[in-house]
Amino acid sequence: MADKKRVLVSALIGGLLTVAVSAGGNADLVKQGEKIFNTKKIGNCLACHDANGKKINNPGNLGPKLQGLSAWPAEALYAKVYDPYQGNPISAMPAFGKNGVLDDAQIKAVVAYLKTIK
Ligand code: HEC
Repeated sequence: MADKKRVLVSALIGGLLTVAVSAGGNADLVKQGEKIFNTKKIGNCLACHDANGKKINNPGNLGPKLQGLSAWPAEALYAKVYDPYQGNPISAMPAFGKNGVLDDAQIKAVVAYLKTIK
């Protein structure tokens, strides 16, 4: 009986640790993605999109205000950033992945950030 309890307790602690570690890792990824989103020389998504209350001060505001993206599957967001023409052949959005502007890890970070946009 005591043994069973010990196993249960250590399993619980293990589970909590895993959750804490992955939440921390995700927070870093979100921060990284937000930076890419807002940095002119990297993603520069802010040039065309308002997101999370940040307003673009650019009259050439081409893209829609980003909202409700937390409901999108991560794969759909990845695909959109990788190559918007797949879903929309006349998109005015650059294909960041296909054109080699952002690499796989950078797109994943951007997707983690996009998932925080309600
Ligand atoms: C040159 C302007 C431009 C830039 C820069 C740009 N986008 Fe877009 N984006 C658009 C346009 C226009 C659309 C709407 C047409 C479409 O869906 O393809 C769009 C659509 C989107 C959508 C779908 C939104 C929805 O509600 O359907 C997402 C997500 C998105 N962009 C993310 C990004 C991210 C992330 C970046 C930076 C890596 C970025 N965009 C950079 C122009 C831009």
